[in-house]
Amino acid sequence: MVMWDSVFPTPVMRSSMGRGFSDEELSFFERTWAQSQANVTNFRSADTRVLDAPEMESLRAIVADHVNQFGWKVISAHPRHSFYITQSWVNFTQPGQSHFRHMHTNSLISGSLYIYVKKELDSICFYRNSPAQLLVTDDQSNPYNTPIHRVGVDVGDLVLFPSSLLHDVEPTTAGHIRVSLAFNAFIKGELGSEERLNSLLV
Ligand SMILES: [Fe+2]
Repeated sequence: MVMWDSVFPTPVMRSSMGRGFSDEELSFFERTWAQSQANVTNFRSADTRVLDAPEMESLRAIVADHVNQFGWKVISAHPRHSFYITQSWVNFTQPGQSHFRHMHTNSLISGSLYIYVKKELDSICFYRNSPAQLLVTDDQSNPYNTPIHRVGVDVGDLVLFPSSLLHDVEPTTAGHIRVSLAFNAFIKGELGSEERLNSLLV
């Protein structure tokens, strides 16, 4: 019997916050849109710490809970460590616009909470950080050879991933303004140990 192992898989966490957005939260996003600015291929909020706003208190707790789940599961951090949200902002992508391919530097865990999307039209795409050595055919992709992994998203969904993972949003074919709240998170506490000569306080 032949067995296949997937070694060193890349974790992408998908979840739903399990509720709709309140009128107060939606009003906040509308105000944020009014104060947005261009960001290469789409728009983003001028405010880069939106989850610090009082109106975002509940959403911040939801995001923080997911960041912790990702951290404990993926990094298997010791209980002496904690994870915390650093920056958070809102992306606005108009019809025909996209979000350029990128990764998040100076961050450990990144993610998005989807405010306004259409399930059948909107997605986020992840890419291998190192391209395939041989690209033989495009029509027989599998987890071992595919260069791209597309995740469909719906309103209230959360998608979390390692900050180092390349991702983008393809040009939208929808007629709506796609709205998502992006965030970065980092770890706090002593990493490593004096004994192993790799102690680092962060
Ligand atoms: Fe991103």
